Amino acid sequence: MQDKIRELTNEIEGYQVSNNDELEAYRLKFISRKGVMGELFAGLKDVPNEDKKAMGQALNVLKNEAQDKFKELITSLEESTAGAKSHDHPDLTLPPVPDQLGTIHPLSKTQQRIIEIFEQIGFSVAEGPEIEDDFHNFSALNFPENHPAREMQDTFFIEKNPDMVLRTHTSSVQVRVMETTKPPLRKIMPGRVYRNEAISARAHCFFHQVEGIYIAENVSFVDLKQTLYHFAKEMFGQQSKVRFRPSYFPFTEVSAEMDVSCGLNEPGTCEICGGRKNVCKGTGWVEICGAGMIDPQVLENCGIDPEKYTGFAFGMGVERIAMLKYNIEDLRLFSENDIRFLRQFTPMG
Ligand code: DAH
Repeated sequence: MQDKIRELTNEIEGYQVSNNDELEAYRLKFISRKGVMGELFAGLKDVPNEDKKAMGQALNVLKNEAQDKFKELITSLEESTAGAKSHDHPDLTLPPVPDQLGTIHPLSKTQQRIIEIFEQIGFSVAEGPEIEDDFHNFSALNFPENHPAREMQDTFFIEKNPDMVLRTHTSSVQVRVMETTKPPLRKIMPGRVYRNEAISARAHCFFHQVEGIYIAENVSFVDLKQTLYHFAKEMFGQQSKVRFRPSYFPFTEVSAEMDVSCGLNEPGTCEICGGRKNVCKGTGWVEICGAGMIDPQVLENCGIDPEKYTGFAFGMGVERIAMLKYNIEDLRLFSENDIRFLRQFTPMG
């Protein structure tokens, strides 16, 4: 029996399992009552009396060893299967998953380009709030209360506070800049504006503008014309044609609007409306900008001495410019998030 015990001790010590079946085989052989242990304990009765005690003790030691080993085998099997999972390498032969790059929205691209052009000639960017008070959106810009000029802009009012509106133009930021900055100053003010208008291919209830002001001593209408002409050439190419028409804004005197040629009057059809003429209305010109010399009263309203300083201002529509630049016919495309439309613009990155 002693030999048998020694033999089993060695076997237990060296036992290895690599899967659950082998573990079960070990259990049946060394742990289960029907295994070798059962047989050995049963054989104790044939051991001579004087050896019985020692042999019984030896058997108990063997039984404990078998049980300790069983626990050890369970843990090592668990560790090896977990380890195998974490070393599971990705299959490097699989084809790569392509990166899904987004594109830059045409309005962002256009606005960025407008900013770039003006920054190159010394303008810097300023911003203001979209929810604006009556003073900054209207009064300071010479729209007195009940003045018919306010009708030019269909305003969204804030219900709980009739003094507050969604700004109808970025000219409100002009006022804020003039209030806080001493001339000479050159600023552009990009942003979203809101008007209570029916949505169509040519109009929307929100759109984007870039406002600009230049205030210093001896600024004249010539400076305004040259600045905007320079802008048009940079934006649409050196061959671009522009025209200025007299206009009216309460906050400028004199006032003008600038149109850019859409190509209709060149040989062939209108580049942007493709003959349908829905953007240029068949005139061959698209208005992109209102402008003028800042009314001395407005300078005074904002704390700038009109005897000393003069200035020009302009406000351009980002959508209009993007439509001209990218031959887009319908304003609604900018806000409908149609992925087929957006994908046509260059990816970011
Ligand atoms: N605020 C005008 C509008 O939304 C555009 C404009 C016209 C801005 C003339 C100006 C300007 O700064 O001088 O229709």
